[in-house]
This record gives sequence, structure tokens and C-alpha cells, in this order.
Amino acid sequence: MKRFEDRTVIVTGGATGIGFATAKLFAAEGARVVIAGRNAANGAQAVERLKKIGGRPLFVRTDISNEDDVRRMIDAAVAHTGRIDVLVNNAAMFYESDFLNETTERWRAVFDTIVNGSYWCSKYVANAMIASSTHGAIVNVSSINGYRALNQSSHYNAAKGALDQLTRCTALELAMHGIRVNGVAPGFIETELSVVGGVNELETDWFKNYYVGMRKIPQARAGHVDEVAEVIAFLASDAASYIQGTTIPVDGGLSTTF
Ligand SMILES: NC(=O)c1ccc[n+]([C@@H]2O[C@H](COP(=O)([O-])OP(=O)(O)OC[C@H]3O[C@@H](n4cnc5c(N)ncnc54)[C@H](O)[C@@H]3O)[C@@H](O)[C@H]2O)c1
Repeated sequence: MKRFEDRTVIVTGGATGIGFATAKLFAAEGARVVIAGRNAANGAQAVERLKKIGGRPLFVRTDISNEDDVRRMIDAAVAHTGRIDVLVNNAAMFYESDFLNETTERWRAVFDTIVNGSYWCSKYVANAMIASSTHGAIVNVSSINGYRALNQSSHYNAAKGALDQLTRCTALELAMHGIRVNGVAPGFIETELSVVGGVNELETDWFKNYYVGMRKIPQARAGHVDEVAEVIAFLASDAASYIQGTTIPVDGGLSTTF
């Protein structure tokens, strides 16, 4: 029997990058995957690719920074599959900005997506799990930026720090319902998010010289999306049955040093 046979998994932002790698892995392991994302074209393409793997995939157009959208998405997931076993809070946005010139509007947009979006998804999914007596798992995709400061991204660093605390707090309150909550904290992973202001940061001299050449990343390379997806699936699986409220770095050793 496959690890996630007959289980339903929601992946927010699951049409691209780490989210899509995670959706593919869950589908290959027998899960019914529901992708919640903003971009209908990406969603349709992701579902077509998942269908080849199996598991009746569904895309629900959702802006997770909108509470009504989140509610509708979760109702649609329950209607499609009957229950929800796993939620992966993966959707996020990133841009570079100088703190002194940050705008309230953009700061709020980042918090509405990373913090409030994960809060709404977790709350409504946890209630659905409890209503169906499902002992499920929630995995929050954070970042090493949640506990290390990166220049020009206070909004993102602060939001990921809040997400880590949401992981701990929800792990504490939901344990009594048999729901486990954990997180992963990726370092540099090659995805769309590596392209900042039109430049792929992994192709820049500063990345190649400092992070790779000088082994600031001890493994001297960026990570692959599948290396993050594997840890997400592990945390969502029964093999992680006694792990509660922790966030695992997946960063080639980057956050162990300074
Ligand atoms: N790539 C990296 O180096 C890296 C490092 C650390 C953490 N992460 C985290 O990994 C996760 C996935 O990022 P990625 O690198 O795969 O990038 P990505 O841009 O491919 O994935 C983010 C996804 O979230 C979706 N999204 C954004 N805002 C949304 C909203 N309001 N509603 C619904 N969907 C929304 C995007 O459309 C996209 O599909 C994010 O949480 C990110 O912070 C990535």
C-alpha cells in the first residue's frame, strides 16, 4: 500500500516550484491532491500533469489572502474527496525592498499571504479534520529567513518568523485532536522565487562566489525542489507520528553557520 493511499492533501501554491514537486510526490504516493492557487492557467497545467500520475487531482482557484476564498476552497476540497488528511501551507510571495521605503500596502500583502493565509487555511482545515474525526497533519513551508535575517526583505523574514510561531502554537492546541503541525525551512532552492527583480539570484557572482565558492552553504550548492518535497511528505506521513511543532531546515547546512 502506498504511503498516502486514499488520503486527501491540499497544497496551497501547488502549481509551481516546491508546491508542485510536493503535489507530484503526494500523487505518486497515492493521494488525492487539491491544488489551491491564484493562476488558473498554471493550475490547469499542473492538474493535467498530475492526472498522468493518478489520484483525481483538483485545482481550486484561490487567493489565500482572502478568507472567503479559503473557505470556498476547503468546502470544494471536502465536496470532491469527503475529507482532508493533509494541508501544506506553501503559498508565499517575495520581493526585495529597503525597509525605510517599504509601503504599508506591500507589507500587508506579504502578511496577508504568508501569515493570515496560513492561519485561515489551518483553522478551516483543522475544523474540517475534527468534524470528520481525521487525525491529520499540517505542514507549513517556512524559510530559514524565519529565524535568520536577510537584507532587503524584512516583510518576508518577519512573516516567516510569525509562521514558525503559528506552527508551534497550532501544534500545541491541535495535538489533543490528533492533528500534527510541523514545518520545513528551505534555504536556497532553485524555483521561480529565485528570480528576484528579473535576476536569477543563483546565477549571480555573489551567489557563486560567496555561497558556493566560499562554502557559506556547507554543501556548496542550491537545493532541488524534490529535496524539500521529500521532507514535507515525511512530516505529513505516519513515519513522523511523534514529531509535533518543529520546523526542519532543508538548506544544505546554511543556517548552521554565520
Ligand atoms: N525557492 C526558495 O529558495 C525558497 C526558500 C525558502 C522558502 N521558500 C518557500 O517555499 C514556498 C514555495 O516557494 P517556491 O520557491 O516554490 O516559489 P513559487 O513562486 O514557485 O511558489 C509560490 C506559489 O505560491 C503562489 N501564491 C502566492 N501568493 C498566493 C496567494 N495569495 N494565493 C494563492 N497562491 C499564492 C504562487 O502563485 C506560486 O504558485 C514558499 O513558501 C517560499 O517562501 C522558498
